[in-house]
Formats: sequence, C-alpha cells, structure tokens
Amino acid sequence: MRDGIVKIGVIGAGVFGSRHALVLAGIPRCTVVAVADTDHEKAQRLAMEIGAAACANIRDLLEKCPVDALVIALPDALHLDVTLAGIRAGCHILLEKPMTTSLADASFLLEAAKQQDRVFMMGHIMRFDPRYIAVADSLQDAVGEVVLNVSVRKGLALGSALHQFPGTSLVHHVAVHDIDALRYMTGLEVSGVYACATQQVPDREGMYDHVAVICKLSNGSLFSINAGWVLPDSIGGAMDVNWNIVTSRRSFYIDLQNGGVRIADGNGFHFPDGFRYQQRHGVHAGFIRDMDEHFIDCIHSGKTPVANFADGWTAVSICDSILKSIKTGTTQVPQSLI
Ligand SMILES: NC(=O)c1ccc[n+]([C@@H]2O[C@H](COP(=O)([O-])OP(=O)(O)OC[C@H]3O[C@@H](n4cnc5c(N)ncnc54)[C@H](O)[C@@H]3O)[C@@H](O)[C@H]2O)c1
Repeated sequence: MRDGIVKIGVIGAGVFGSRHALVLAGIPRCTVVAVADTDHEKAQRLAMEIGAAACANIRDLLEKCPVDALVIALPDALHLDVTLAGIRAGCHILLEKPMTTSLADASFLLEAAKQQDRVFMMGHIMRFDPRYIAVADSLQDAVGEVVLNVSVRKGLALGSALHQFPGTSLVHHVAVHDIDALRYMTGLEVSGVYACATQQVPDREGMYDHVAVICKLSNGSLFSINAGWVLPDSIGGAMDVNWNIVTSRRSFYIDLQNGGVRIADGNGFHFPDGFRYQQRHGVHAGFIRDMDEHFIDCIHSGKTPVANFADGWTAVSICDSILKSIKTGTTQVPQSLI
C-alpha cells in the first residue's frame, strides 16, 4: 500500500458490486482503481462513473491494475475460484455472502486464507444494521440472562429469486443472513438442524420457495427460521422480516417490514431503503458504507473484522446441514471449527 491509500478492485458490477464501488469511491484512505465484470457494458458504465479502469475478469484486473484489496460481489455459486485467485495474489478481501454454496469449497477458501496474513472479511451485512447491533449490544451486556427461544420470519419478493444465477438456494442466499445474525446477536452456536422445504411456484425447477428450519442451540434453546421468496414484487426492495428473541428477562423484537417509510402511488406502495443503501445529500450511505469503512479500517489497523472467513465458513456449514436435512428428512449436526 503506497501513501496509506488502499487500492481496491471490485469484482462484479451488478446490483451489490455497484453499491460497493460507489460507496468505496467516497471513503477516505482508499481508492477504487478497477472494476471487473464479464458483462463489458456493466463494467464500463460503473468504471466511468467512479473514474476507475474497466476489466473483463479478475485475471485481467490483476494483470493491468495492481491492487491491495478486492471486494467480490459475484453470483453466489461463483465465489470460489475468484476468491482463491485473490488470496493467492496477496489481496485483502471483502467477500459477499454466502462464502460459497458448498462446505467443501468454503473449507478450501478458509485453508487458503490461513496461509496469508491479510484481512479476510465476509459481507455479513446484518452485523452493521443498527437495529441488530442494538439487540446484540443489549444481550452482550446482560449478566445471567438466558436466551430461551429465537424465531425469525422472512419474506422476499419473487423477483429477488428470479434475479439469481443458477447454483444458489433460498438457504444460501437468504437464510444465511439469519444464521449469521443469530450467531452475532446471541453469541450462541447451532448444534442441530431439522428442516423442510417446498417448491410450488412453477418456472423455478429445483429452487425451494419456502424453508422451515428448527435449530437446537448450544445452550439448549431453539431457533426457528421460516423463510420464503414468493411475495408480490410490489413489496419492492422491502424485506418483510420479523425477529423475536425471548430471554429469561426480556423479549426483543426486530421489525424490518417497511423501514418506517411508505409511498403510495397508482402502482401501490413503495418502500424506500433508508438503512442499507441510500444516497444522502449526494453521499452513498447506509450500513453498507459502515461495512466497507470497517473493511478499510481493518486493513489500516490490522484489526480482525467483525465477520471473518471463519464466520463465513460456519454459516455455510449450517446451510449445508439444512439442505441435507431437507433431502434426508433427518436431523443433522453441522460441522464446527472446534
Ligand atoms: N450483503 C447483502 O445484503 C447482499 C445483498 C445482495 C447481494 N449480495 C450478494 O452479492 C453478490 C452479488 O449479488 P448481486 O445481486 O450484485 O448479483 P448481480 O447478478 O446483480 O451481479 C453479479 C455480477 O457478476 C457478473 N459476473 C458473473 N460472473 C463473473 C465473473 N466470473 N467475473 C466477473 N464478473 C462476473 C455478472 O455479469 C453480474 O454483473 C451475491 O453473492 C449476493 O448474495 C449481498
């Protein structure tokens, strides 16, 4: 790193890669030097907007533009090879969730990362949502308080499922957020999993519409996830999400149904995103910015990120057990790192 400025390459100029690039372009002590996407038009459009070079893929980017760090926002099933190339090139990496769509691939990445003294961070973004942070902090400060039961119900629009490249699943793409958020907020681990899923919406062969999961937690309590992605697209980018954490003393609720703002017009209601990503007086902001700033800060300070590759691996291990349970109809025990 020269002059204390982290040179970044963003891999993937789709929805989330673009957000990362725009946010990072406004963060001090770093600069986005290149954007890579196999869709040349997308790469060029984004690169032009932030004054970076447009590249065809990671190989092209690493050859043309020396970088200190990579932000990888490719379709879920394509994370392995590109992340491995980045690790081997000695880059710090912020990898979007899920780490991979198979536990074997996640293990491969974790092992490769252990060989390098770099920052390896996961884009487990709920750890940067102020609502989740408030619950996590409150639970962390509590002495002698026992978590008794946790549940989350989550609905996404059908469009978000149809947008996905092949090779991912409702579990890896959506429920992985909740699995990580559970671990972050409660500090508990998943010790057993039983799950069922359905696929009833046509045109999406092999993609589950709904999944119901019951997890046994390390303190003996239960965590249930009920997730689906078939809601009408009119809910827009809004997430219909309700959490409830019941402890021996309190009950916590997180409600992300509309973020507090609704706009009605001839096409129904719209729910602008005021938390995750929002342009605020010309600044690309939201908790995606907090996450990216944290990544840059970890590179400068040598701190361990709040979500590292071990967290990514653990979340994939639980996803793996959920899918095995759905297939076999049996309870599964997720592999753990200890
Ligand atoms: N943390 C979050 O809240 C959050 C939200 C949305 C998406 N994501 C994650 O971000 C990642 C990207 O999601 P998205 O919605 O931006 O997807 P997207 O489909 O909008 O974008 C993916 C981009 O990758 C490009 N691409 C495909 N293969 C490539 C390759 N080999 N090299 C370079 N470019 C390639 C595609 O052309 C596309 O532009 C996914 O892993 C997703 O799970 C995270």
